[in-house]
Amino acid sequence: MKTLWHHCHVASMANGAYSIIEDAAIVTDGAHIVWIGPRAEVPDQGDINTVDLNGAWVTPGLIDCHTHTVFGGNRSGEFEQRLQGVSYADIAAAGGGIASTVRATRAASEEELFASAQRRLLQLLKDGVTTVEIKSGYGLDLASERKMLRVGRRLGEQLPVTVRNTCLAAHALPPEYKDRADDYIAHICSDMLPALAAENLVDAVDAFCEYLAFSTEQVEQVFITAGQLGLPVKLHAEQLSSLHGSSLAARYQALSADHLEFMTEEDAIAMAAAGTVAVLLPGAFYFLRETQLPPMDALRKHGVKIAIATDLNPGTSPGLSLRLMLNMACTLFRMTPEEALAGATTHAARALGMVDTHGSLEAGKVADFVAWNIERPADLAYWLGGDLEKRVVRHGVESTF
Ligand code: NIG
Ligand code: FE
Repeated sequence: MKTLWHHCHVASMANGAYSIIEDAAIVTDGAHIVWIGPRAEVPDQGDINTVDLNGAWVTPGLIDCHTHTVFGGNRSGEFEQRLQGVSYADIAAAGGGIASTVRATRAASEEELFASAQRRLLQLLKDGVTTVEIKSGYGLDLASERKMLRVGRRLGEQLPVTVRNTCLAAHALPPEYKDRADDYIAHICSDMLPALAAENLVDAVDAFCEYLAFSTEQVEQVFITAGQLGLPVKLHAEQLSSLHGSSLAARYQALSADHLEFMTEEDAIAMAAAGTVAVLLPGAFYFLRETQLPPMDALRKHGVKIAIATDLNPGTSPGLSLRLMLNMACTLFRMTPEEALAGATTHAARALGMVDTHGSLEAGKVADFVAWNIERPADLAYWLGGDLEKRVVRHGVESTF
């Protein structure tokens, strides 16, 4: 049965801009949009459900393209330490940081991980998110990475959200491989990735390329294996220092390179040529009180598409609102509200390899949208979080929370 959604304005985000349609209508058939345009031009649909959206502004469902939603414990104690002057790198070197979340995640049952991740994910969904990427990377052994990825799959089955699973086994060195990083990378490539891919738990492969994590040579081994398995790659790159991981990512046609505060103009040129999306994470920048800004001018000059995500994780960005990140992208990174919204819709879809079906409101695309009771689209980047009044439609069906 078709549905006509009317009495609304649309910011379709087609072509990465608001692409506003005033007094609009959307016709959905099952999970897809079959027509969208001015209300006065709707073709005759015969017998059809109609839904009055009461003058709402309709945008694509928000897409959070970089999260670590599944983890055990939390690290508010480290937050207190950092506020007393201990650095993120010092905490990591002393066995805290990612390693402490790995201990908590390994100790947690799949049920416990599911329950805590579901609570966090619901916060994102209540903020208008209809698609989310979730990374593993706090297990760092086959069984624990599998446990995390299974939770990701189950969240997608049980909640009204499309989940993309990313395997981030190359996030940190597990204690059992201390001083043997090359051996751990070999284990990821020969054992972990092939097994997890065979179980259909992996949609993309990520790594943490950083002086306190893995080198470009080690990341390259992971990328080669991902390619052999037919999986696209992404990379945490240039967050704390410049190793040119983003250029490496571009060489492997990565969907995205993420963080990027320390990237160079050459990296931006390489990413633009490869179509690799720059995923900026203002929550991590803010929470770590970083001062080095991502090179916005170089990204814009070379036409790199920019996405914005929460990076929801216990160590560097306990961010439960993607809209808050849109605000931070504007205030901290000087993006416009329009660029920020494109970063959480169409460019985020591209960063997940889903741009042909998601991220903008166009005939033929999936009917994932949010009808917001706001005055203009910029309101989405204006309010600092909060539960804005809205109706969320996913796959043509209104979600209830
Ligand atoms: O995206 N940069 C590496 N990974 C996470 C942080 C993980 C952690 O500290 O637990 C990030 O910021
Ligand atoms: Fe991250």
